[in-house]
Amino acid sequence: ISLKPYNTFGVDVNSALFAEVFSVEALKELLGMDVVRQRRLLVLGGGSNLLFTKDFEGLVIKVSIPGISAVVDGEQVLVTAGAGVVWNDLVNYCVANGYAGVENLSLIPGTVGASPIQNIGAYGVELKDVFYSCTAYEIATAEERIFNFEDCKFGYRDSAFKNELKGRYIITAVSFKLNRQAQLNTSYGAIQAELRDRNILQPTIADISKVVSHIRVSKLPDPSTIGNAGSFFKNPIINQDQFKEVLTKFPDVVHYPAAGQKVKLAAGWLIEACGFKGKVVGETGTWKNQALVLVNHGTATGQEVYDFSEEIIRTVYARFGVELEREVNIL
Ligand code: EPU
Repeated sequence: ISLKPYNTFGVDVNSALFAEVFSVEALKELLGMDVVRQRRLLVLGGGSNLLFTKDFEGLVIKVSIPGISAVVDGEQVLVTAGAGVVWNDLVNYCVANGYAGVENLSLIPGTVGASPIQNIGAYGVELKDVFYSCTAYEIATAEERIFNFEDCKFGYRDSAFKNELKGRYIITAVSFKLNRQAQLNTSYGAIQAELRDRNILQPTIADISKVVSHIRVSKLPDPSTIGNAGSFFKNPIINQDQFKEVLTKFPDVVHYPAAGQKVKLAAGWLIEACGFKGKVVGETGTWKNQALVLVNHGTATGQEVYDFSEEIIRTVYARFGVELEREVNIL
């Protein structure tokens, strides 16, 4: 079948086999079938963090397990959602019920099940700040396993599911520890500016959600009209020596402190400084308001987008001596 509706880049490739599971029981049944051991597997959530460069010869498993539930214990709330729940639906549920913690993560594309894999983050909050545990099934044995916070080894856009656990488990549900007493994170300059503009002095989580959604819509292309997968590259983290070199040549480079005395650079700034912002190359290019986002203007092939990303990596490296790493999974 065509995978075009199943990837936000809107790349038109085919998969040999396709299965969609709507329950844990259906997943277990599927994992018992020989085909799972005979073919390459690709587990899909919202398809919002991948780029297909060719047809997929194996079995695509789309996880559509639904359901949200909450257990309230005083000020604490444990919210559990099925892996197939659309991430922003979970955010809306939490905001509507006054469960604080995920409001800064409003409007991130994708599903709940994918959220721990790359530790999604935006506007000063990362998934790891609210993660409690997740349930997953081992592909080889169809056995259930619970992963707690430590098991997941979260890092910047990283977790054990991208490393030692890669390709071994299918996440079926994720639990989040939220709070009925909001502790807002308004550290991000763009949020503060937007609250000021709207004259909001005592923001609620609904205000934060609205403001974040507004900022995202103004900066990022809507995948339903312009194919994209959000930030295509990670913000590079470099050491102090490298940073000094960059800073002497480019004193206005946008940077932030990172763990372990390191420095995180704004990849969007580096790419824009190389003249790529808003550039159109055939059917692909970078977004006019955010150079870190590569787009499909209509009929781009994954290979075309990939080749353009290579050109960006080469050019940024030649100018800054900094190697960009892709955030999007290439298939
Ligand atoms: N900048 C430019 N030109 C650009 C884009 C950015 O100069 O074209 C500079 C600006 O100085 C801006 C700074 O870079 O102030 C940071 O830009 P922005 O606030 O847009 O955030 P980002 O670092 O580019 C990261 C995440 C986003 C997340 C935003 C907001 C990564 C790879 N990306 O982007 O996440 O929404 O912060 O928190 O960490 C995603 O992962 O798909 C994603 C969209």
